[in-house]
Amino acid sequence: DFMNEIMGLSVLEKQIKDKLQVEHVIIVPGNSDDYEWVKQDMGKACAAFLKKIVQPNNTIAVTGGTTMASAADVMTVLNKENNYLFVPARGGIGEKVENQANTIASEMARKTNGDYRLLYVPDPLSESAYQTIINEPSINETLQQIKGANVVLHGIGDALTMAKRRKTAETTIAKLKTNKAVSEAFGYYFDKDGNVVHKVRTVGIQLEDLSTIDYVITIAGGKSKGQAITSYFKQGKSDLLITDEAAAEQILRGS
Ligand code: G3H
Repeated sequence: DFMNEIMGLSVLEKQIKDKLQVEHVIIVPGNSDDYEWVKQDMGKACAAFLKKIVQPNNTIAVTGGTTMASAADVMTVLNKENNYLFVPARGGIGEKVENQANTIASEMARKTNGDYRLLYVPDPLSESAYQTIINEPSINETLQQIKGANVVLHGIGDALTMAKRRKTAETTIAKLKTNKAVSEAFGYYFDKDGNVVHKVRTVGIQLEDLSTIDYVITIAGGKSKGQAITSYFKQGKSDLLITDEAAAEQILRGS
């Protein structure tokens, strides 16, 4: 609105920092529900921040989704001398190829002249398949690289939107509704208070792994994600939220 225009978005950034208790907040103008370029602007902000914080030989784990795909589109070389490794944060092949974490990791590596390792593991995974798969040497090696990531870039989704997009079983969707799930990140579904109400069994980064990661960068915007973002921040670790004006205003409106 008019105030944001004349003050810049720094006032709004400060309000979001206080409300969500997050160290860094970057807000880009607009509403990414309506315009693709707003997602790209969040991606550009992410690329600029990454340039400042990445260290030589860092491993960067990325999740899937259309927001992360846009971030990959606008990624540029981080630092000519240094080498970086991009990995998917988890196996996840339930989504369209262009939105899968593997695709995004390889695309970010290409744009930055970095390396990548991929992880092709179905998600969700049965308990018995899980035990067998994590003991496969080639998968185990990639998993160790993922768990040792220095930086994580991830999206947040609206719970039911994500469940439907991933063709989740009706029984699980019913469970999400009963438990009032509002957000999804890393295969975890959270209610408005940040309680985990469902988790997809998957290999890769788990919520508890985030505490040892140097930088967790969250990218999520759009008016429709305001409540989802608030919910994730009640529980999930993040050092930086990159969002848009429409989501920020929605977050401030919420209780
Ligand atoms: O986990 C969250 C989703 O990956 C977000 O997907 O960026 O397409 O809304 P999206």
